[in-house]
Amino acid sequence: MPKSATSTPTSQYMVEVHELTKSYGSVQAVRGISFNVERGEIFGILGPNGAGKTTTLEILEALRKSDGGMALVAGYDVSLNPEEVKRSIGVQIQSANFFDKVRLQELLGFALSVYQVRGMTPYQLLERVQLQDKARSYPEQLSGGQLQRFSIAMAIAHSPELLFLDEPTTGLDPQARRNTWELIKNLRNEGITIVLTTHYMDEAEDLCDRIAIMDQGKIIALDTPEKLVQGLLDSGFTKTREIRPATLDDVFIQLTGKELRD
Ligand SMILES: Nc1ncnc2c1ncn2[C@@H]1O[C@H](COP(=O)(O)OP(=O)(O)OP(=O)(O)O)[C@@H](O)[C@H]1O
Ligand SMILES: [Mg+2]
Repeated sequence: MPKSATSTPTSQYMVEVHELTKSYGSVQAVRGISFNVERGEIFGILGPNGAGKTTTLEILEALRKSDGGMALVAGYDVSLNPEEVKRSIGVQIQSANFFDKVRLQELLGFALSVYQVRGMTPYQLLERVQLQDKARSYPEQLSGGQLQRFSIAMAIAHSPELLFLDEPTTGLDPQARRNTWELIKNLRNEGITIVLTTHYMDEAEDLCDRIAIMDQGKIIALDTPEKLVQGLLDSGFTKTREIRPATLDDVFIQLTGKELRD
């Protein structure tokens, strides 16, 4: 049952989605998807351009209204209690939106004061994302990976129980991607549930406890990375030209008939 804005969250799951739909005019971006996210897991939504990943995330973040279905986030109905949802979650903000002439420590200080957080300093937040030596830098002085980590610091300033990341490593070099993966795992180990989207198989495989594969507005498979690959092998899949064992890439190609590449 959805809760009212004043009650304490009781849902077994961090996210519960039932038959969610969303169209933009004649484009059916989300076509009746259902899934649950367990508390404390890293849940990935993997899919090609236009699959409906961002639309799904924006509905769960109470930033966009669905046409149908239901979503409970941190126990709150996104349609009935959007403000409670927003207070419970962290959303990674696109880096381009930061004020380029304000230092990192001031931006974080601002976020902490807006959220009225006590007992947490900008420096502690910077330490959590390994940017403590950048306290006096401006966003425009950061590399892509550093900017991405800073945007995560902004998103966790109010200690949310759930963090949404939309393509957290797109455009980063391999080392910066790995640093971001480590940070995301550390946050999960601190108890934050993470829902992320990605185009990258290796990212989904390394990072996610469970993956929903999304294509053309539908979830076409949902399981752990290991079980997705095992399911493919159990179905009699064999590779003819490569010695390499089956991967998540093969699962995706088999299910959709297309490669997951830009
Ligand atoms: N504001 C909008 N107005 C109209 N159509 C939209 C809008 N946002 C998304 N769409 C369309 O809805 C579909 C799903 O888009 P969405 O952005 O959710 O996909 P995505 O999986 O996040 O893609 P990407 O991997 O490219 O970020 C696409 O066909 C897209 O063109
Ligand atoms: Mg997107």
